[in-house]
Amino acid sequence: MEQYIIKGGMPLAGEVNIAGAKNAALGILAASIMTDETVTIENLPDVSDINVFLQAIESIGAKVERIDRHTAKINASTVDQHEVEEGYMKKIRASYYMLGALLGKYKEAKVVLPGGCKIGARPIDQHLKGFRALGGDVKIEHGSVKVKAERLHSNDIYLDVVTVGATINIMLAAALADGKTTIENAAKEPHVVDVANFLNSMGANIKGAGTDLIRIKGVERLHGTTYSVIPDQIEAGTFMFASAVTKGDVIVKNVIPKHLESITAKLIEMGCEVEEFDDAVRVVSKDRLKKTNIKTLPYPGFPTDMQPQGVVALALAEGVSIVTESIFENRFKYVDELARMGSNIKVEGNTAIIEGVEKYMGASISAPDLRAGAALVIAGLAADGFTSIEDIHYIERGYEDLPEKLSSLGALIEKVSDEKEIQKFKLKVG
Ligand code: UD1
Repeated sequence: MEQYIIKGGMPLAGEVNIAGAKNAALGILAASIMTDETVTIENLPDVSDINVFLQAIESIGAKVERIDRHTAKINASTVDQHEVEEGYMKKIRASYYMLGALLGKYKEAKVVLPGGCKIGARPIDQHLKGFRALGGDVKIEHGSVKVKAERLHSNDIYLDVVTVGATINIMLAAALADGKTTIENAAKEPHVVDVANFLNSMGANIKGAGTDLIRIKGVERLHGTTYSVIPDQIEAGTFMFASAVTKGDVIVKNVIPKHLESITAKLIEMGCEVEEFDDAVRVVSKDRLKKTNIKTLPYPGFPTDMQPQGVVALALAEGVSIVTESIFENRFKYVDELARMGSNIKVEGNTAIIEGVEKYMGASISAPDLRAGAALVIAGLAADGFTSIEDIHYIERGYEDLPEKLSSLGALIEKVSDEKEIQKFKLKVG
């Protein structure tokens, strides 16, 4: 079985390029089926969630051409199905964006209820509330969501919780609805803004994305466009924390520093030096990290997708830190794996009480989900000795070339598939 093998203890140094944002790209790919003209999307990350999503788009009849590793051309004029097969949908949670996109364009959609990382109950009631408000008839039948409408009309929609998924999904459907729709208490994440910008580049009329009030004036039709996805805030943050825990000096390039402010703030509180450039940040870590507290919040708060990386760093910091997870109720499962590496963390409900230890010890562990998997890789980089991480398919859902990028910064990490390769790695690194 494929796994990562790591020999920890190397301080990371050098420059790393960040890929396009997976979560923005998923919304953008869904939106790209809402026109009959050709859409070219650049800066797509080459990760399994994106590749599965492209296949899902092909499966409903769209033409997908991969121009190069990071560029795809999509033409949806040949779409002849408004239902996405179960296989794709169970693999990626963002499959639910096909509901908004198909409903907007074809006024009907059927999608299996979404899968994805098991980090909480993750209901989609707000998405469905939005579709109903736009005139959709929503039914749940045999594990699938079916939505249909004669015509979609505008409405004022208030979201009961701040949700990225529902904000994007409603924006997709409302882009082609009659009249002016508003979304109040909308999510403000950079990927919400990126999907809105993409839709606008296709001729949509969306204002206010990035604030909590989004106004969408429905248009008759959308047209083709060429668009480049924003850099991945979470991949960038992951490398910033990797530098912090390894006493590294890393320049994280091709980023929008503004999107990283909450992450930068925490690293500074932990004693790192963070220097911002136009499209890069440099994280230098010299001494033992200091304790701090983190609470995950919707943007511009500290992202829940960076919570495990934050905990991995604080578990090495001097003193007691508190991390509160306020978005997903079941996002501390990886703490058991981290305990095998010597951490001292007590979880009570949505709070982790972390007593920092001096060192992690290498261990055999497995990735319980995407972001926790990446966080455990970081722990391995800081650990004494060898760490092996199984279930890396979770990590590959959202990180392009993670071992290669880390190796280019001096880390000793390799993807291996059997015992022989593990032994070879061990001999090589000594
Ligand atoms: C997206 C991201 C995910 C990130 C999360 C929060 C994608 C593909 N995934 O997930 O990586 O961790 O945002 O930044 O972009 N909720 C409801 N009802 C709903 C929808 C959500 O109660 O209809 C709740 C959720 O259970 C959660 C909170 O709202 O507690 C936020 O969820 P949401 O922002 O929708 O997360 P996702 O879009 O699933």
